[in-house]
Amino acid sequence: MEKSKILIIGATGSLGYHLAESSLKFCHPTFALVRDSAISDPIKSHKLQCLSHAGVTLLKGSLEDEASLVEAVKLVDVVICAVSAKQTLQQKLLIKVIKQLGSIKRFIPSEFGSDPTKAKVCELEDGYNFYAPKIEIRQLVEAEGIPYTIISCNFFMKILLPSLVQPGLSAPPRDKVTIFGDGNTKGVFMQESDVAAFTINAVDDPRTLNKVLYLRPPGKCLFYE
Ligand SMILES: NC(=O)c1ccc[n+]([C@@H]2O[C@H](COP(=O)([O-])OP(=O)(O)OC[C@H]3O[C@@H](n4cnc5c(N)ncnc54)[C@H](OP(=O)(O)O)[C@@H]3O)[C@@H](O)[C@H]2O)c1
Repeated sequence: MEKSKILIIGATGSLGYHLAESSLKFCHPTFALVRDSAISDPIKSHKLQCLSHAGVTLLKGSLEDEASLVEAVKLVDVVICAVSAKQTLQQKLLIKVIKQLGSIKRFIPSEFGSDPTKAKVCELEDGYNFYAPKIEIRQLVEAEGIPYTIISCNFFMKILLPSLVQPGLSAPPRDKVTIFGDGNTKGVFMQESDVAAFTINAVDDPRTLNKVLYLRPPGKCLFYE
């Protein structure tokens, strides 16, 4: 079967870079929508050079620039968005473009976490409601009839394991620990590269169409006492 052409939005980001690498690894013609500001940033521009040398086609544009979205979406079969959580609602213009063009076989919105419809309300320190925008985007995609797959992958190991999922920390807590639930609540931690590989393998799989995929491989769980 011919491999779908994939557009990654957010390829200079933490997860997006792995998505672009995986897309190439699994032999998909791969495109990345890139902002001008990323090209002038030394670290991001190095990432883009690596991706470009590996075979990713870089397209200039952004989620705010409708013309760039139209041009990019026209080139591909699948769109994967990996903007950060706080940029979730910026996907609305992209969804409008995907709907208008009507040619996309699969859209994977930027969710990549705990299922927001099942998680408790989570307000960050600055009052930002973490899960509500993700639910809004899910509902919009469904209402527009866009073919989708949602990746529900629990916690990224690199970010949340070192802090024991304590909000705002990047190292193990020393003074105070918040215990979740009754203390027996289990956490699932994933490598971003595994999440990316799973996502890319889902795009051409008919079983994953219009589904939420939960990443909890039963044979690969580690339990700590
Ligand atoms: N499950 C977990 O534990 C966990 C942890 C972290 C993140 N996540 C999820 O993973 C997903 C990706 O997050 P991340 O942390 O990898 O993101 P990130 O590192 O902050 O990267 C965001 C990317 O989006 C791009 N971007 C931002 N605004 C854009 C715009 N207007 N137009 C085009 N591109 C734009 C950025 O490009 P520039 O280089 O131009 O800025 C960058 O490439 C999110 O859904 C997030 O919620 C999950």
